[in-house]
Amino acid sequence: MKILGIETSCDDTAAAVVEDGTTILSNVVASQIDIHCRYGGIVPEVASRQHLFSILPVIESAMSNARIGWSDINAIAVTNGPGLAGSLLVGINIAKSIALAHNLPQIGINHLEGHIYANWLAGYRPEFPSLCLIVSGGHSDLVLMKDHGKFEKLGQTRDDAAGEAFDKAARILGLGYPGGPAIEKAAQNAYPAFPLPRAWLKGTDDFSFSGLKTALLHLVGNNTAATDFTAQAAASFQLAVVEVLSIKTIETAKRTRAKHILVCGGVAANRALRKYITDYSPIPVLFPPPFLCTDNAAMIAACGYFRLMQGRISHYEIDVIPNLSLN
Ligand code: KG4
Ligand code: ZN
Repeated sequence: MKILGIETSCDDTAAAVVEDGTTILSNVVASQIDIHCRYGGIVPEVASRQHLFSILPVIESAMSNARIGWSDINAIAVTNGPGLAGSLLVGINIAKSIALAHNLPQIGINHLEGHIYANWLAGYRPEFPSLCLIVSGGHSDLVLMKDHGKFEKLGQTRDDAAGEAFDKAARILGLGYPGGPAIEKAAQNAYPAFPLPRAWLKGTDDFSFSGLKTALLHLVGNNTAATDFTAQAAASFQLAVVEVLSIKTIETAKRTRAKHILVCGGVAANRALRKYITDYSPIPVLFPPPFLCTDNAAMIAACGYFRLMQGRISHYEIDVIPNLSLN
Protein backbone atom coordinates (compact mmCIF):
# COMPACT_ATOMS: atom_id res chain seq x y z
CA MET A 1 0.00 0.00 0.00
CA LYS A 2 1.49 3.33 -1.02
CA ILE A 3 0.07 6.49 0.51
CA LEU A 4 0.77 10.07 -0.54
CA GLY A 5 0.85 12.28 2.55
CA ILE A 6 0.27 16.05 2.44
CA GLU A 7 0.97 18.38 5.37
CA THR A 8 0.43 22.16 5.42
CA SER A 9 -0.88 22.81 8.95
CA CYS A 10 1.66 25.45 9.93
CA ASP A 11 4.72 26.85 8.15
CA ASP A 12 6.15 23.77 6.39
CA THR A 13 4.84 22.64 3.00
CA ALA A 14 5.37 18.88 2.92
CA ALA A 15 4.57 15.83 0.80
CA ALA A 16 5.78 12.24 1.12
CA VAL A 17 5.15 8.74 -0.15
CA VAL A 18 5.16 5.94 2.45
CA GLU A 19 4.73 2.21 1.86
CA ASP A 20 2.75 0.07 4.34
CA GLY A 21 2.89 2.79 7.01
CA THR A 22 6.54 2.15 7.77
CA THR A 23 8.84 2.62 4.75
CA ILE A 24 9.57 6.12 3.46
CA LEU A 25 9.85 6.21 -0.34
CA SER A 26 10.16 10.01 -0.44
CA ASN A 27 9.88 12.86 2.05
CA VAL A 28 9.97 16.47 0.84
CA VAL A 29 9.68 19.50 3.16
CA ALA A 30 9.80 23.13 1.94
CA SER A 31 10.56 25.22 5.01
CA GLN A 32 9.36 28.82 5.36
CA ILE A 33 11.67 29.58 8.29
CA ASP A 34 13.77 32.11 6.35
CA ILE A 35 10.63 34.13 5.59
CA HIS A 36 9.03 34.03 9.06
CA CYS A 37 12.25 34.58 11.06
CA ARG A 38 12.22 38.20 9.82
CA TYR A 39 9.09 38.68 11.92
CA GLY A 40 10.27 36.60 14.91
CA GLY A 41 7.41 34.10 14.47
CA ILE A 42 4.88 32.70 12.01
CA VAL A 43 2.62 35.16 10.15
CA PRO A 44 -0.49 33.13 9.18
CA GLU A 45 -1.34 35.04 5.98
CA VAL A 46 2.24 34.79 4.74
CA ALA A 47 2.26 31.05 5.55
CA SER A 48 -0.86 30.22 3.52
CA ARG A 49 0.35 32.28 0.54
CA GLN A 50 3.70 30.50 0.64
CA HIS A 51 1.98 27.08 0.77
CA LEU A 52 0.19 28.02 -2.46
CA PHE A 53 3.53 28.70 -4.18
CA SER A 54 5.19 25.54 -2.89
CA ILE A 55 2.55 22.82 -2.76
CA LEU A 56 2.57 21.62 -6.40
CA PRO A 57 6.39 21.49 -6.79
CA VAL A 58 6.66 19.74 -3.41
CA ILE A 59 4.11 17.06 -4.40
CA GLU A 60 5.78 16.62 -7.80
CA SER A 61 9.16 16.14 -6.09
CA ALA A 62 7.68 13.62 -3.64
CA MET A 63 6.26 11.59 -6.54
CA SER A 64 9.42 11.72 -8.66
CA ASN A 65 11.75 10.98 -5.70
CA ALA A 66 9.63 7.90 -4.96
CA ARG A 67 9.96 6.92 -8.66
CA ILE A 68 6.28 6.10 -8.96
CA GLY A 69 3.26 7.22 -10.97
CA TRP A 70 -0.29 8.06 -9.86
CA SER A 71 -1.49 4.53 -10.63
CA ASP A 72 0.85 3.25 -7.88
CA ILE A 73 -0.78 5.39 -5.18
CA ASN A 74 -3.53 3.72 -3.11
CA ALA A 75 -4.79 6.72 -1.09
CA ILE A 76 -4.08 10.34 -0.13
CA ALA A 77 -3.70 11.30 3.53
CA VAL A 78 -3.91 15.00 4.37
CA THR A 79 -3.73 16.94 7.64
CA ASN A 80 -7.12 18.51 8.42
CA GLY A 81 -6.27 19.93 11.88
CA PRO A 82 -5.24 21.22 14.30
CA GLY A 83 -3.40 24.14 12.72
CA LEU A 84 -3.79 27.46 10.92
CA ALA A 85 -7.06 27.49 8.95
CA GLY A 86 -5.63 29.21 5.87
CA SER A 87 -2.65 26.86 5.77
CA LEU A 88 -4.72 23.69 6.27
CA LEU A 89 -7.07 24.75 3.44
CA VAL A 90 -4.26 24.68 0.89
CA GLY A 91 -3.38 21.05 1.69
CA ILE A 92 -6.98 19.87 1.86
CA ASN A 93 -7.98 21.42 -1.43
CA ILE A 94 -5.02 20.02 -3.33
CA ALA A 95 -5.68 16.59 -1.76
CA LYS A 96 -9.34 16.72 -2.83
CA SER A 97 -8.37 17.77 -6.38
CA ILE A 98 -5.85 14.94 -6.79
CA ALA A 99 -8.25 12.42 -5.25
CA LEU A 100 -10.95 13.49 -7.71
CA ALA A 101 -8.64 13.49 -10.74
CA HIS A 102 -7.19 10.04 -9.98
CA ASN A 103 -10.22 8.49 -8.27
CA LEU A 104 -8.36 7.86 -5.01
CA PRO A 105 -9.66 7.53 -1.46
CA GLN A 106 -8.69 10.39 0.86
CA ILE A 107 -8.11 10.32 4.58
CA GLY A 108 -8.19 13.37 6.89
CA ILE A 109 -5.43 13.09 9.49
CA ASN A 110 -5.06 14.75 12.89
CA HIS A 111 -1.64 16.43 12.86
CA LEU A 112 -0.92 15.29 16.44
CA GLU A 113 -1.74 11.69 15.58
CA GLY A 114 0.66 12.09 12.67
CA HIS A 115 3.45 13.14 15.04
CA ILE A 116 2.87 9.96 17.08
CA TYR A 117 3.11 7.77 13.95
CA ALA A 118 6.58 9.14 13.18
CA ASN A 119 7.66 6.45 15.66
CA TRP A 120 6.42 3.70 13.30
CA LEU A 121 8.58 5.21 10.54
CA ALA A 122 11.58 4.88 12.84
CA GLY A 123 11.15 1.09 12.70
CA TYR A 124 9.61 0.71 16.16
CA ARG A 125 6.56 -1.44 16.89
CA PRO A 126 5.29 0.12 20.13
CA GLU A 127 3.09 -2.00 22.40
CA PHE A 128 -0.22 -0.72 23.75
CA PRO A 129 -0.96 1.05 25.91
CA SER A 130 1.80 3.52 25.05
CA LEU A 131 2.06 6.92 26.68
CA CYS A 132 2.67 9.66 24.11
CA LEU A 133 4.32 12.96 25.00
CA ILE A 134 3.55 15.33 22.12
CA VAL A 135 5.72 18.43 22.43
CA SER A 136 5.59 20.91 19.56
CA GLY A 137 5.16 24.61 18.86
CA GLY A 138 1.45 24.43 19.64
CA HIS A 139 1.09 21.47 22.02
CA SER A 140 2.40 19.81 25.17
CA ASP A 141 0.04 16.88 25.50
CA LEU A 142 0.15 13.61 27.41
CA VAL A 143 -1.99 11.09 25.55
CA LEU A 144 -2.56 7.41 26.30
CA MET A 145 -2.63 5.41 23.05
CA LYS A 146 -4.69 2.28 23.71
CA ASP A 147 -4.65 0.95 20.14
CA HIS A 148 -4.31 2.29 16.60
CA GLY A 149 -6.63 5.30 16.41
CA LYS A 150 -7.72 5.00 20.09
CA PHE A 151 -6.50 7.85 22.26
CA GLU A 152 -7.25 9.23 25.71
CA LYS A 153 -5.93 12.72 26.36
CA LEU A 154 -4.67 12.92 29.95
CA GLY A 155 -3.01 16.32 30.13
CA GLN A 156 -2.06 19.43 28.23
CA THR A 157 -0.40 22.77 28.72
CA ARG A 158 -2.38 25.39 30.59
CA ASP A 159 -0.54 28.25 28.89
CA ASP A 160 2.52 28.07 26.61
CA ALA A 161 3.35 24.88 24.71
CA ALA A 162 6.88 23.51 25.25
CA GLY A 163 8.07 24.59 21.79
CA GLU A 164 6.42 27.98 22.20
CA ALA A 165 8.28 28.36 25.53
CA PHE A 166 11.58 27.58 23.79
CA ASP A 167 10.75 30.11 21.06
CA LYS A 168 9.85 32.84 23.59
CA ALA A 169 12.90 32.11 25.75
CA ALA A 170 15.16 32.38 22.70
CA ARG A 171 13.61 35.74 21.88
CA ILE A 172 14.23 36.94 25.47
CA LEU A 173 17.86 35.82 25.20
CA GLY A 174 18.28 37.32 21.71
CA LEU A 175 18.98 33.91 20.15
CA GLY A 176 16.65 34.10 17.12
CA TYR A 177 13.90 31.91 15.65
CA PRO A 178 13.08 29.01 15.80
CA GLY A 179 14.07 29.04 19.44
CA GLY A 180 14.37 25.33 20.26
CA PRO A 181 17.47 24.56 18.19
CA ALA A 182 18.96 27.99 19.14
CA ILE A 183 18.56 27.36 22.89
CA GLU A 184 19.91 23.81 22.53
CA LYS A 185 23.01 25.10 20.72
CA ALA A 186 23.64 27.92 23.20
CA ALA A 187 23.16 25.55 26.16
CA GLN A 188 25.59 22.97 24.86
CA ASN A 189 28.50 22.60 27.34
CA ALA A 190 27.07 25.40 29.54
CA TYR A 191 26.45 25.02 33.28
CA PRO A 192 22.76 25.50 34.30
CA ALA A 193 23.76 28.00 36.99
CA PHE A 194 20.39 29.67 37.64
CA PRO A 195 17.65 28.01 39.76
CA LEU A 196 14.59 28.73 37.58
CA PRO A 197 11.13 27.61 38.82
CA ARG A 198 9.35 24.40 37.77
CA ALA A 199 5.53 24.20 37.75
CA TRP A 200 4.75 20.61 38.80
CA LEU A 201 0.92 20.99 38.92
CA LYS A 202 0.83 17.93 41.18
CA GLY A 203 -2.19 15.65 40.92
CA THR A 204 -2.69 16.57 37.25
CA ASP A 205 -1.08 15.55 33.96
CA ASP A 206 -1.03 19.20 32.84
CA PHE A 207 1.97 21.42 32.16
CA SER A 208 2.63 25.14 32.56
CA PHE A 209 5.62 27.07 31.23
CA SER A 210 4.57 30.72 31.43
CA GLY A 211 5.96 31.23 34.98
CA LEU A 212 9.32 29.88 33.84
CA LYS A 213 9.32 32.32 30.92
CA THR A 214 8.57 35.26 33.25
CA ALA A 215 11.34 34.14 35.64
CA LEU A 216 13.78 34.09 32.71
CA LEU A 217 12.68 37.60 31.76
CA HIS A 218 13.45 38.84 35.31
CA LEU A 219 16.77 36.99 35.30
CA VAL A 220 17.82 38.73 32.08
CA GLY A 221 16.73 42.11 33.45
CA ASN A 222 18.85 41.67 36.57
CA ASN A 223 21.93 39.98 35.25
CA THR A 224 23.82 40.54 32.04
CA ALA A 225 27.34 41.14 33.31
CA ALA A 226 28.80 37.62 33.16
CA THR A 227 30.40 36.74 29.82
CA ASP A 228 28.75 33.32 29.62
CA PHE A 229 25.41 34.58 30.99
CA THR A 230 23.39 33.78 27.84
CA ALA A 231 24.69 30.21 27.60
CA GLN A 232 24.11 29.55 31.31
CA ALA A 233 20.61 31.08 31.18
CA ALA A 234 19.78 28.95 28.10
CA ALA A 235 21.06 25.82 29.89
CA SER A 236 19.07 26.67 33.03
CA PHE A 237 15.89 27.22 31.02
CA GLN A 238 16.35 24.04 28.98
CA LEU A 239 16.96 21.95 32.12
CA ALA A 240 13.80 23.31 33.77
CA VAL A 241 11.64 22.36 30.74
CA VAL A 242 13.33 18.99 30.27
CA GLU A 243 13.03 18.04 33.95
CA VAL A 244 9.31 18.82 34.15
CA LEU A 245 8.48 17.08 30.85
CA SER A 246 10.53 13.99 31.72
CA ILE A 247 9.54 13.49 35.36
CA LYS A 248 5.83 14.12 34.80
CA THR A 249 5.76 11.80 31.77
CA ILE A 250 7.54 9.00 33.67
CA GLU A 251 5.15 9.31 36.63
CA THR A 252 2.13 9.16 34.32
CA ALA A 253 3.57 6.18 32.44
CA LYS A 254 3.97 4.29 35.73
CA ARG A 255 0.42 5.14 36.85
CA THR A 256 -1.14 4.08 33.52
CA ARG A 257 1.07 0.95 33.27
CA ALA A 258 2.22 2.03 29.81
CA LYS A 259 4.52 -0.40 27.99
CA HIS A 260 6.37 2.28 26.03
CA ILE A 261 6.79 6.06 26.14
CA LEU A 262 6.61 7.67 22.69
CA VAL A 263 8.03 11.19 22.51
CA CYS A 264 7.21 13.19 19.38
CA GLY A 265 6.80 16.70 17.94
CA GLY A 266 9.49 19.29 17.23
CA VAL A 267 10.77 19.48 20.83
CA ALA A 268 11.43 15.70 20.75
CA ALA A 269 14.47 16.60 18.63
CA ASN A 270 16.06 18.15 21.74
CA ARG A 271 19.06 16.05 22.80
CA ALA A 272 18.88 17.08 26.46
CA LEU A 273 15.25 15.88 26.63
CA ARG A 274 16.11 12.63 24.83
CA LYS A 275 18.93 11.88 27.27
CA TYR A 276 17.14 12.91 30.48
CA ILE A 277 13.94 10.96 29.91
CA THR A 278 15.81 7.89 28.63
CA ASP A 279 18.16 7.91 31.65
CA TYR A 280 15.35 8.10 34.21
CA SER A 281 12.56 6.01 32.65
CA PRO A 282 12.12 2.42 33.85
CA ILE A 283 10.28 1.55 30.58
CA PRO A 284 11.60 1.95 27.00
CA VAL A 285 11.39 5.48 25.57
CA LEU A 286 11.09 5.78 21.78
CA PHE A 287 11.84 8.87 19.67
CA PRO A 288 11.67 9.41 15.92
CA PRO A 289 14.96 10.57 14.36
CA PRO A 290 15.17 14.40 14.56
CA PHE A 291 14.13 14.95 10.91
CA LEU A 292 10.86 13.12 11.64
CA CYS A 293 10.23 15.02 14.91
CA THR A 294 9.55 18.35 13.21
CA ASP A 295 6.65 18.74 10.77
CA ASN A 296 6.72 16.41 7.76
CA ALA A 297 4.26 14.53 5.55
CA ALA A 298 5.76 11.04 5.96
CA MET A 299 4.19 10.88 9.43
CA ILE A 300 0.81 11.87 7.92
CA ALA A 301 1.11 9.14 5.27
CA ALA A 302 2.11 6.56 7.93
CA CYS A 303 -0.94 7.44 10.01
CA GLY A 304 -3.07 7.33 6.84
CA TYR A 305 -2.03 3.71 6.24
CA PHE A 306 -3.28 2.60 9.67
CA ARG A 307 -6.56 4.52 9.15
CA LEU A 308 -6.98 2.89 5.72
CA MET A 309 -6.40 -0.56 7.27
CA GLN A 310 -9.27 0.20 9.67
CA GLY A 311 -11.48 1.27 6.74
CA ARG A 312 -11.69 4.81 8.13
CA ILE A 313 -11.78 6.79 4.88
CA SER A 314 -12.92 10.43 4.62
CA HIS A 315 -15.04 11.87 1.84
CA TYR A 316 -15.07 15.06 -0.24
CA GLU A 317 -16.83 16.90 2.62
CA ILE A 318 -13.53 16.73 4.54
CA ASP A 319 -12.94 20.20 6.03
CA VAL A 320 -10.34 22.06 8.08
CA ILE A 321 -10.78 21.82 11.86
CA PRO A 322 -8.24 24.31 13.31
CA ASN A 323 -8.85 23.15 16.91
CA LEU A 324 -9.21 19.42 16.18
CA SER A 325 -8.51 17.35 19.33
CA LEU A 326 -7.21 13.81 19.74
CA ASN A 327 -9.97 12.37 21.90
O1 KG4 B 1 6.27 19.87 15.51
P1 KG4 B 1 6.82 21.16 15.00
O2 KG4 B 1 7.79 21.11 13.85
O3 KG4 B 1 5.67 22.12 14.57
C1 KG4 B 1 4.46 22.21 15.28
O4 KG4 B 1 3.58 21.34 15.04
O5 KG4 B 1 4.39 23.11 16.13
O6 KG4 B 1 7.48 21.88 16.27
C2 KG4 B 1 8.10 23.12 16.16
C3 KG4 B 1 8.59 23.51 17.54
C4 KG4 B 1 9.18 24.92 17.61
O7 KG4 B 1 8.63 25.59 18.72
C5 KG4 B 1 10.68 24.67 17.79
O8 KG4 B 1 11.32 25.70 18.53
C6 KG4 B 1 10.69 23.35 18.54
O9 KG4 B 1 9.64 22.60 17.96
N1 KG4 B 1 11.97 22.64 18.35
C7 KG4 B 1 12.81 22.37 19.36
C8 KG4 B 1 13.95 21.75 18.77
N2 KG4 B 1 13.74 21.66 17.41
C9 KG4 B 1 12.51 22.20 17.18
N3 KG4 B 1 12.73 22.60 20.69
C10 KG4 B 1 13.78 22.23 21.46
N4 KG4 B 1 14.91 21.67 20.97
C11 KG4 B 1 15.04 21.41 19.64
N5 KG4 B 1 16.15 20.86 19.17
ZN1 ZN C 1 3.77 19.60 14.33
